[in-house]
Order: sequence, then C-alpha cells, then structure tokens
Amino acid sequence: MLYRKLGNTGVSIPAIGQGTWKFGEDKYKEKDEIEALRFGITNGLTLIDTAEEYGNGGAEKIVGQAVQDVRNNVFLVTKVSAKNCSYEGVLRSAEASLERLKTSHIDLYLQHWPSQQYDVSETMEAMVELVNKGLVKYVGVSNFSTDLMQEAQYHLGSVPLICNQVAYHLNDRHIETEFLSFAKKNGVTIMGYSPFGYAPHVFGMKGFPEVESQERHVLESIGAKYGKTAYQVALNWVLRQEGLVTIPKAANKEHIVDNLNALGWDLQKDDLDQIEINFPIDKKD
Ligand SMILES: NC(=O)c1ccc[n+]([C@@H]2O[C@H](COP(=O)([O-])OP(=O)(O)OC[C@H]3O[C@@H](n4cnc5c(N)ncnc54)[C@H](OP(=O)(O)O)[C@@H]3O)[C@@H](O)[C@H]2O)c1
Repeated sequence: MLYRKLGNTGVSIPAIGQGTWKFGEDKYKEKDEIEALRFGITNGLTLIDTAEEYGNGGAEKIVGQAVQDVRNNVFLVTKVSAKNCSYEGVLRSAEASLERLKTSHIDLYLQHWPSQQYDVSETMEAMVELVNKGLVKYVGVSNFSTDLMQEAQYHLGSVPLICNQVAYHLNDRHIETEFLSFAKKNGVTIMGYSPFGYAPHVFGMKGFPEVESQERHVLESIGAKYGKTAYQVALNWVLRQEGLVTIPKAANKEHIVDNLNALGWDLQKDDLDQIEINFPIDKKD
C-alpha cells in the first residue's frame, strides 16, 4: 500500500481509502457492505470515510460493525452535517456518531459542507472542544474554499486544520488551479472524493465516461498498454498528485481488488498527454 502524509501530523494514511456513501440504506445489502469493508481493510484499505448523513446514520452503523475487532488498525473519518454545525449541534452529532461507530474516538472529524446557518467560528470552537475531550484526534473540513479554510483555521487556533475533502476526478479538476498549491503550503491534505465521478453524476454533472464514448475509448486503450482497466487508469491518474489521498466507494470485492491494482505503476508521459487532451481542466470550475 502507498501511504501519504496527513497534514503535518507525522501520521501517514493509505493513499486509497474506502468511501461509504450509499451504504446502510438497504438492510438486505448490509451483510455484503460489511464484508466488502472488512475485505478492503484486510488488504490494506484501512482508511474509511463515512458521514452522519449517509443512510441517515446507517453507513456509520455499518462501519461500526465492520471495524469492531480491528478498530486500532483503521483510520476512521466521519462528518458533521452543515445543518448540525451550531456549537451544541456539533457536540451532539459527534456523540451520536461515536455511538453508531461503536468507538471511543473519531480519527478525523470533518465539517461536511459550509453552513449557511451557523458561523464557522462556533463550529470550529466545538471542534476544539472535541479534541480537548479526546473524542476527536484531528479536525478537517469538506467542500471548503481556500478562504473559508483560512477562516476555519483562524478559529481553530492552535488545533491544525489538516484536511479538506473535495471532489477530484477526470471530469472535475478544479482543485488543480489553486487548491493543491494552497494545501501543500499550509499542511492540509487533500482527500479527493468520487474518483470515478459518481456523485457529480448523480447531481446531474458529467460522471465516468460512458462505454463506447471517445473518452472511455482513450482510457481503455491507455489501460491496455499496462494490462489495466479504464477505472484503474482513472484512479492511478488521480494519485499522480503527490500528497493527495482518494476514497473510492466499492461494494464488491472485484472492484476492491481492481482498485488496489491501480497502485504500483506509473502512467507514462505520452499517456498523461493523451488524458490532458481528452479531459482538460475547465478553468470555469
Ligand atoms: N464530502 C463530500 O461531500 C462527498 C461527496 C461525495 C462522495 N464522498 C465520499 O467519497 C466516496 C466515493 O465517492 P462516490 O461514492 O461518489 O463515487 P466513486 O467512488 O466515484 O464511484 C463509486 C462507483 O464506482 C464503482 N466502482 C468502484 N470501483 C470500481 C472499479 N474498480 N471498476 C468499476 N467500477 C467501480 C462502484 O461500484 P460498486 O459499489 O458496485 O463496487 C460505485 O458504483 C463516497 O462513498 C463518500 O465516502 C464525499
């Protein structure tokens, strides 16, 4: 497994983790979801991302069951929803997440989205309280602009903001314009979500290139040179960014094995150039 630094904490986390959006929504799928997470953990995918919002707490319960006897080997990330970002709301949400996750502490606690309702000062004050109580080890944010990240850090005082979780995939490269250099300079790890573009696809934006499309053909012919699939090319391309980690969601073991095999090889310059032509950065993003 490839590991990457978590901010300036001195801790390293796997470059590929496991996403859990859509887990815990269907009781007939629970057993398979738990098995998939455990299979991933056994094979080195010990970074797990979840949120109180996923499956209305259901995803956290699945994660709690999956990690129960291997908790110490796992780096657990969860998120407080924007609507719960008052001072008291954050404290309540964290307690509820801890209970669903069946754990004494959250490794990394993120504000899921910027809140229209609550000032970031009170949210971050509550985050500091959680760190002081030992309920949360590290604090981060998700879907924050660089300005808002700086504001959050100001209110965190001596507690470092060590992660921003944001979309990053072939059809959403906006972090490349400013975010990545800001993050590097400020000791913030970028955790890229939806590496295959699924969430934006649901939100009506461009997802993973359709079978038979020109873009899919490009990824497949590049992959053929290395004996890899289009999805493995996409994941390898995401991880070419140093210091970035990614959290694909995979509910079946075949996909998990495929994703593990997206590591350990490098796309050559002519292939990166081909990708550049077919998936250019949209400066408007
Ligand atoms: N902070 C935020 O606002 C935010 C927003 C969105 C997502 N996230 C996090 O990021 C995680 C990942 O993003 P995502 O769930 O939107 O989607 P994603 O990881 O881009 O794509 C997931 C889809 O890809 C499939 N897949 C996985 N590996 C594959 C492979 N090797 N070959 C072919 N198909 C493969 C999965 O199928 P199977 O499930 O059938 O294996 C699933 O349908 C989420 O689960 C969540 O934890 C965070």
